[in-house]
Amino acid sequence: MSEEVTYADLNFQDSSKRKSIQGSGTVGIKAPPATSHVWHQRALALTLLCLLLLIGLGVLGSIFYMTLKKEMRKLNNLQNFKEELQRNVSLQLMHSMNSSKMIRDLSLTLQEIATKLCYELYKRQPEHKCKPCPKTWIWHEDNCYLVSMDYVTWQESAMFCSAQNASLLMIKNKHVLEFVKSRRLRNYWLGLPPREDYNSVILDEKILSSNWFIRNANEVDNRKLCGYLDTTYIYYTYCTNTKNIICEKLANPVKIENTLMSETSDRKYN
Ligand SMILES: *[C@@H]1O[C@H](CO)[C@@H](O)[C@H](O)[C@H]1NC(C)=O
Ligand SMILES: *[C@@H]1O[C@H](CO)[C@@H](O)[C@H](O)[C@H]1NC(C)=O
Ligand SMILES: *[C@@H]1O[C@H](CO)[C@@H](O)[C@H](O)[C@H]1NC(C)=O
Repeated sequence: MSEEVTYADLNFQDSSKRKSIQGSGTVGIKAPPATSHVWHQRALALTLLCLLLLIGLGVLGSIFYMTLKKEMRKLNNLQNFKEELQRNVSLQLMHSMNSSKMIRDLSLTLQEIATKLCYELYKRQPEHKCKPCPKTWIWHEDNCYLVSMDYVTWQESAMFCSAQNASLLMIKNKHVLEFVKSRRLRNYWLGLPPREDYNSVILDEKILSSNWFIRNANEVDNRKLCGYLDTTYIYYTYCTNTKNIICEKLANPVKIENTLMSETSDRKYN
């Protein structure tokens, strides 16, 4: 009986000892209340961290948004500036185009005035310095004419005019017709293509469209007939007969500064 008690006692002591050993030897590893506290702290720290991150993200986002807005504004301003500049440039371009057109128109008008003035001066003083024709040549509208009373063949006449950088008279427009009629020219070779019949032509508007001679004068064959002017008629005769020479060429533009000079020209024009 006593042995049993002792055993029970021992057993009890043993178990209490074991309990106490367990209690002191394994703190940390297996202590349920203490463990939950640590986890709470960690969760709290994590939550705080998350919150901080969120706040940081928010701040960053707003900074980004503000910067973006600023940059967009700048870009917009730049765009507006660019458009205004383009508008200004095109306006200026138009303005300068207008100005250059005005200058062009003005210089054309000035040229016309100078030509008219020079023509008046020329009528009083046939060799005025402003005359746009070579010396001794007659000026009428756009052309210069050289009238020579040498009796030569058609071919010689053509060669003579060619040597003057001019051509035989060709009545191609109403100004030339006007000039010819006013001068009552008799027996002058014309720059018409040689042909084979004698048919005469009356000088009128019809002649304006006719086919004036443009080929080389050397091609003319001696049996052909060449046209000549007799007042208001065109007649045909052998090209080897002799008639007077009349050459024509384009007048130079009138030099404006020369209309302001009173002296007579002593220069030779081409
Ligand atoms: C465009 O022209 C206007 C008026 O001439 C001027 O006030 C403005 O500064 C110009 N803009 C630019 C971008 O040059
Ligand atoms: C250019 O000329 C036209 C008329 O000729 C006028 O309507 C326009 O306003 C002018 N522009 C400038 C920029 O001067
Ligand atoms: C004809 O023109 C040429 C070249 O343009 C020139 O050298 C020559 O002097 C001119 N002749 C006459 C008579 O005007």
